[in-house]
Amino acid sequence: MTTPTIELKPSSHPVPAAEREKILANPGFGRHFTDHMVTVKWTEGRGWHEAQLVPYAPLSLDPANMTLHYAQTIFEGLKAYRRPDGTVATFRPEQNAERFQASARRMGMPELPVETFIEACDALVTQDKAWVPGHGEQSLYLRPFMFATEVGLGVRPSNEFLFVVIASPAGAYFPGGVQPVSVWLSEEYVRAAPGGTGAAKTGGNYAASLVAQAQAAEQGCDQVVWLDAIERRWIEEMGGMNLYFVYGNRIVTPELSGSLLPGITRASLLEIAADLGYEVTEGRISVDDWREGNADGTLTEVFACGTAAVITPVGSVKSARASWTVADGEPGEVTMRLRKALLDIQTGAAPDPHGWMHPL
Ligand code: PLP
Ligand code: COI
Repeated sequence: MTTPTIELKPSSHPVPAAEREKILANPGFGRHFTDHMVTVKWTEGRGWHEAQLVPYAPLSLDPANMTLHYAQTIFEGLKAYRRPDGTVATFRPEQNAERFQASARRMGMPELPVETFIEACDALVTQDKAWVPGHGEQSLYLRPFMFATEVGLGVRPSNEFLFVVIASPAGAYFPGGVQPVSVWLSEEYVRAAPGGTGAAKTGGNYAASLVAQAQAAEQGCDQVVWLDAIERRWIEEMGGMNLYFVYGNRIVTPELSGSLLPGITRASLLEIAADLGYEVTEGRISVDDWREGNADGTLTEVFACGTAAVITPVGSVKSARASWTVADGEPGEVTMRLRKALLDIQTGAAPDPHGWMHPL
């Protein structure tokens, strides 16, 4: 695989500094985008070429663009943080690059070299560094993605693709801040089945989740929790986050079943929790385990984790048959301790013993 050099074609009309600062004061999530984007083309027989950093702008698509019909598209999500000394670093970008390759393999798409993925993210963050918020948990969220660009209605892998990276300043993902979320156990709809695309970060998984998310909202819940497709019994993950179950000093996260997303936050917390002295394992947790552990008091906390929302406590659970509060419904001590340990590494407030941060 060849690694094309990124040609820099910066914008002559960046967002004025005063306007940018106004946005950074309250960025929300995924609402504002920086001045630039990186694009790299792939064509059958030619490979990766035309790597460019260009002004952020709409893409023009033919109505018969294959992605619009058959959804051959994948994406990633990672964050750049500003550190106390003013420098900027991204969190484990090589992990996102490798998962992007795994998603590409599952979706019949070309694999982007890990170096190109990282160079594209680095080029965008370096160019748009002024957009990395300067305080606390805020960050610049990077959204690399790739989609089919061939025009035609035949159902087969596209013979050309576009890889793009865009960036968006991010405050809290859940507008309520660190407040426990309520979850709806989806028994009617499933997210992914064995042999399906659940472990790939592909748009269709999210499209398929929306009706269940709407059902959760109708039930007065914030988020959906997905169960396994066969027995509708084993806990898989949340809409855009993995789950962790805390039993005092013992912490368990659902094992990678092949139908849930192998989260990078999840993987990092397996290591951080062990560093902090917890007994941490991957295993199977059923809906009954959750309800019974809650009833007999052995289950002390549940939390969700992912790039966008970091760590969010789960406060209450509802299904068609039962509903219960997780412990006292408040953010738990272990949840908040892990959250701080992870964020301290990411924001540079604490040392980085695993060498996870990628400085620019
Ligand atoms: N599960 C799903 C379905 C997701 O979309 C995400 C977000 O990326 C996660 C889990 C958490 O993954 P990560 O920690 O790599 O962000
Ligand atoms: C992320 O955490 O990066 C996600 O992808 C979650 C959601 C915004 C899709």
